[in-house]
Amino acid sequence: MKIAILKERAEGETRVAATPETVKKFIGLDNEVAIEAGAGATASISDGAFNDAGATIGDAAATAKDADIVLGVQAPDVALLSAAKPGAWVAALFDPFSHKDRVEAYAEAGLEALSMEFMPRITRAQSMDVLSSQSNLAGYKAVLAAADTYGRAFPMMMTAAGTVQAAKAFIMGVGVAGLQAIATARRLGAQVSATDVRSATKEQIESLGAKAIFVEDVAGIEGEGSGGYATEMSDEYKAAQAKLVSEHIAKQDIVITTALIPGRAAPVLITDAQIATMKPGSVIFDLAVAQGGNVEGSMPDELVERHGVKIIGYSNTPAHLAADASALFARNHFNFLSAFWDKETGKPELDEEIGDAIRLTKGGKVVNERLKGAE
Ligand code: NAI
Repeated sequence: MKIAILKERAEGETRVAATPETVKKFIGLDNEVAIEAGAGATASISDGAFNDAGATIGDAAATAKDADIVLGVQAPDVALLSAAKPGAWVAALFDPFSHKDRVEAYAEAGLEALSMEFMPRITRAQSMDVLSSQSNLAGYKAVLAAADTYGRAFPMMMTAAGTVQAAKAFIMGVGVAGLQAIATARRLGAQVSATDVRSATKEQIESLGAKAIFVEDVAGIEGEGSGGYATEMSDEYKAAQAKLVSEHIAKQDIVITTALIPGRAAPVLITDAQIATMKPGSVIFDLAVAQGGNVEGSMPDELVERHGVKIIGYSNTPAHLAADASALFARNHFNFLSAFWDKETGKPELDEEIGDAIRLTKGGKVVNERLKGAE
């Protein structure tokens, strides 16, 4: 089998879908690995390091030619894959709900698109889950970026010149990114509180030493839908949450928002009127900014100042930690393919549960039920 990795071409993308470690592992499974020259440069991996690991380095056309499997961070443009084998697999982020045209183009080209963001949230797929590995790093980076933008210190410091107060940080949305944000803000010495719509997160927040801020006494609220994801909340809940947040947010110095609902625009958690109640100099990092934003007025990759509050957020947060994000992404790819490797046929054979969840196209058609259901 020939496995190909192209240079990422999306704006601002710094990651790469393989590392010398995963190249060696794929070669250990009797594969040939081809990498486009310069593919690792922005993640601090040289062509020489890939070459030493056993990969051949070439231009895009030579890399994709006769490939059986193409691995990407973001799905490559289909035009780059015209010389790949018919029916070749392409495993990457497809952002399928927003890029249906790209999915159609993959179907027309006869390629098999495997959407890594559709990996089911089941225990055996945890090591293959790119959303998880990348969100974890994003949660960490969001706190560092907020700390860097904040004009004060995070920890309490007692100095000869007087005491510096600890910063108060509030994390909204306690999935993978939120949990890492809590842990990072705590490590930096902030006083941390957090909230989520899923009541199961209360214990997780407390076990990390943070204070749980939850809407109480709103009937019928659990907030957890299928696969452990959040669901859209009732109007009654939204009103109660807005009131609670308004009271709490006015006392915070740092707010990190991470709330997402799969397949929908991110819920707005902080309005302009709420920003106006915050102290001047406070910082909000909107991790959902690329999905529409949790904060009114936030703009990807821009520092927006409203009522003296600085609002930031990146369009691609993991790309700000290119080396680690690539290492984890590459391992997710390897863990995924190697789990299904059939030693006799020398290629991976996906099972139904995972195959049907992530496969978008096959035999010239769009085959994914979740994607078709969203039409
Ligand atoms: P996510 O990125 O979809 O959302 C982030 C957080 O925002 C979630 O905790 C969600 O409940 C919360 N949220 C949504 N709407 C909100 C609102 N209006 N107000 C406040 N918070 C709101 O979530 P993520 O990080 O993907 O995790 C979702 C779940 O999946 C978690 O339970 C996590 O432990 C689980 N998971 C399971 C995996 C596996 O078993 N393979 C892998 C990764 C995560």
